[in-house]
Amino acid sequence: MSTIPPAPPQDPSAPTTILCVASFFKGNDFIDQCKKEGCKVLLLTLESLLQKPWVRESIDEVFALPIGTAMTDRRAVINAVAYLMRTHDIQRIAPLDDYDVEVVAHLREHLRIPGMGETTARYFRDKLAMRTRARDRGIPVPEFVPILHHPRINEYLARVPAPWLLKPRSEASASGIKKLHQPQEVWDVINALGDDASFYLLEHFTPGEVFHVDAITIEREVLFAECHQYRRPLLQIVQGGGIFATRTVPRGSALERQLLETHKRVIKELGIVRGVTHTEFIRAADGTIYFLETAARVGGVHIADLVEATTGINLWREWAKIEISQGEQPYKLPPRRADYGGLIVTLAKQESPDTSAYREPEIAWRMSDNAHHVGLAVRSDRSERIDELLADYERRFTEDFAAVLPQAASPTA
Ligand SMILES: Nc1ncnc2c1ncn2[C@@H]1O[C@H](COP(=O)(O)OP(=O)(O)O)[C@@H](O)[C@H]1O
Ligand SMILES: [Mg+2]
Repeated sequence: MSTIPPAPPQDPSAPTTILCVASFFKGNDFIDQCKKEGCKVLLLTLESLLQKPWVRESIDEVFALPIGTAMTDRRAVINAVAYLMRTHDIQRIAPLDDYDVEVVAHLREHLRIPGMGETTARYFRDKLAMRTRARDRGIPVPEFVPILHHPRINEYLARVPAPWLLKPRSEASASGIKKLHQPQEVWDVINALGDDASFYLLEHFTPGEVFHVDAITIEREVLFAECHQYRRPLLQIVQGGGIFATRTVPRGSALERQLLETHKRVIKELGIVRGVTHTEFIRAADGTIYFLETAARVGGVHIADLVEATTGINLWREWAKIEISQGEQPYKLPPRRADYGGLIVTLAKQESPDTSAYREPEIAWRMSDNAHHVGLAVRSDRSERIDELLADYERRFTEDFAAVLPQAASPTA
């Protein structure tokens, strides 16, 4: 007969053990902040990412799933983490990439660890779930239909004018999106998808300006939200080429107020309790602001570096504090600035692109360690100056670095 080892006495001064889950290389600031907060930090990643420049000095132990096992293999991940828990008193689990949000919610539920659970995580990962909830709560969304009941799809195609976008429900990076113009085209694609079709949705292509709001929510209240406008819609960049750039929406403008108002409703209705989010909106020609998508993570393509340049707030580091505390201690946003900023990022034909010829005093951040990519963030107290700089850099980047954007390397904001 086996005996159960006695539970060790609880030591209130023992550090909190946090497990960071990362199926992509990102989040070094998050990891480093966990260490600064006094945590014992474990990293669970993939064997193929072990050579990446993780902030090893801030990590106590690194674990990797073997080649051939995906982070989405829930049973494999549960087995691995439960095995770790035999000897490590894991109290927090955090996803560093969007693709890890669901498996981490699943782990938390299985291991009874505090943080965002599966019901809420679903609204921040599944485009069908977020749209349905938003529409049901009166937030405008482009008209959509799930690829489920065929008569309903036919009714939709007869009612909603073309073009339509066929989107994967849980992918990021606009490259999986198809623009379709004829009902027959739609059916051909759906039929070719076969059993995968239910993982897609169809929605009305709504031309307009695309915005992103990057936010911190504490106890269901939006405490910090920065509005930016992509200079060109991402879909256009991924499918047609071009340079990724985004800039702060004029502060105090009617547009900013409208975006913040709609954003607040999205956060409330999708039910995130605390954390960081990246949410996208389209403003159509008639001025309506449509909710496009949201994610419970820091925005990609170095948006966090832009937000830090203009506000002094590092979203990765604030997120780490929030994940560790889980509402047990009151959260206080550090003092912040409200400058204007712009970010420009593109693929470069050079392996280590040289930006030393870019010398404007407004440059607040330079991409340093990213092979075949080039990026700058600028800061100013004048919105017009940001537009001027970005327009100039778009032209110069094209001349100095332009490379054709392969689908696989497309940006994920
Ligand atoms: N309904 C739509 N109408 C017009 N453009 C859209 C629509 N949906 C998406 N897009 C464009 O495609 C991009 C990617 O779509 P999105 O839903 O954000 O998916 P992803 O998860 O791939 O970022 C958006 O940033 C926008 O440029
Ligand atoms: Mg998007």
